[in-house]
Amino acid sequence: MLHGKSILLIIGGGIAAFKSLELIRRLREEGMRVVPVLTKAAEKFVTPLSVSALSAEKVYRDLFDLTDEAEMGHIELSRAADLIVVAPATADLLGKMAAGLANDLASTLLLATDKSVLVAPSMNVRMWEHAATQRNVETLKSDGILFVGPDEGAMACGEFGLGRLSETPDIIGAIRAALTDGPLKDKQILVTSGPTHEPIDPVRYIANRSSGAQGTAIASALRDLGAEVIFVTGPADTPPPLGVHVIKVETAREMKEAVDAAMPVDAAVFAAAVADWRMAMPATSKIKKKNGALPELSFAENPDILAGVSQSKKNRPKLVVGFAAETDNVIENATSKLARKGCDWIVANDVRPETGIMGGSENAVTLISNGSADVWPRMGKTEVARKLAERIAKELTKP
Ligand code: C5P
Repeated sequence: MLHGKSILLIIGGGIAAFKSLELIRRLREEGMRVVPVLTKAAEKFVTPLSVSALSAEKVYRDLFDLTDEAEMGHIELSRAADLIVVAPATADLLGKMAAGLANDLASTLLLATDKSVLVAPSMNVRMWEHAATQRNVETLKSDGILFVGPDEGAMACGEFGLGRLSETPDIIGAIRAALTDGPLKDKQILVTSGPTHEPIDPVRYIANRSSGAQGTAIASALRDLGAEVIFVTGPADTPPPLGVHVIKVETAREMKEAVDAAMPVDAAVFAAAVADWRMAMPATSKIKKKNGALPELSFAENPDILAGVSQSKKNRPKLVVGFAAETDNVIENATSKLARKGCDWIVANDVRPETGIMGGSENAVTLISNGSADVWPRMGKTEVARKLAERIAKELTKP
């Protein structure tokens, strides 16, 4: 999807500028052309030589470089790419963009372009939270500038908070979404996936056999239709897909917190195999054997994340899809689950061990919605995901 597309990458002068080298490399692996522009400050953090070597392109640095103007004027440079990406976008660059300044090559290109602009901010948490920066961000958002991040985390300056440059796969995901004209463009979809691990003590946990394969395939299929996907995953075997926003969790309660924080979204697909129970009180040190005496384990029920979102009065997604992994009376159980939890659709599947579905590469599902049960033939989990993503796209784009 990114293959053959071209990006004008404006690298701002922040400590995260070195990460733009990894971004260039990954974008080129995807078959994209990346034409780099360095601000004066960026040259203090990365050298034009390394940027040029990785992009295999001339690096544009100066507005008044006559050779560049002879080869390609700045107006043309600002319009030749399919998308302009600013990464890292410093507070200074955001300020210039919001004010419409054009006093160097980067700001002039940003003012002259007729293409979409995606910015990935990176700065100290105080600078990000400053009223001036937040005002600029609001202005830029209302001007139609696209944002990815910033993320929260430890900063190079030793502080902690919002302001870290988004991870490379997240930036690539945002680029993909900006360049995709799929039916789910501009839609935000949450997908939960994988098992959860519920600690018994610091070394033992309760888990299940979910590999995360079906949830991962669904996230990829939704991404391919242009959705911005928030992927909340437990400790799964299948690695998360590229180009989606990944939030890793361990326990059901952490998953619920991540899901609640992701709201509002247009649709939510709950493919995770969430543990129904956790230890009421996980031991803080390893439980020891005591001459044959068995440990007393007492359980507490985990929150039902799907039911919580389906029944929420505030911010309920337009479409909520649950899964029902059953070993008996699949359709009957799944239909009553749909009513009990209050979701719109249930994807029901038979996970008796002899089906080989749990942990395998195929799935045989029945899509249950209000009053109908649509039996799909057994097919690969990728095909199930594609079919489901198409149904979701149809539902969300219905007039
Ligand atoms: O009740 P049961 O676990 O069979 O329901 C399965 C569906 O509910 C799945 O979509 C699963 O992701 C979701 N679920 C949840 N939170 C739980 C239990 C299940 O979101 N605590």
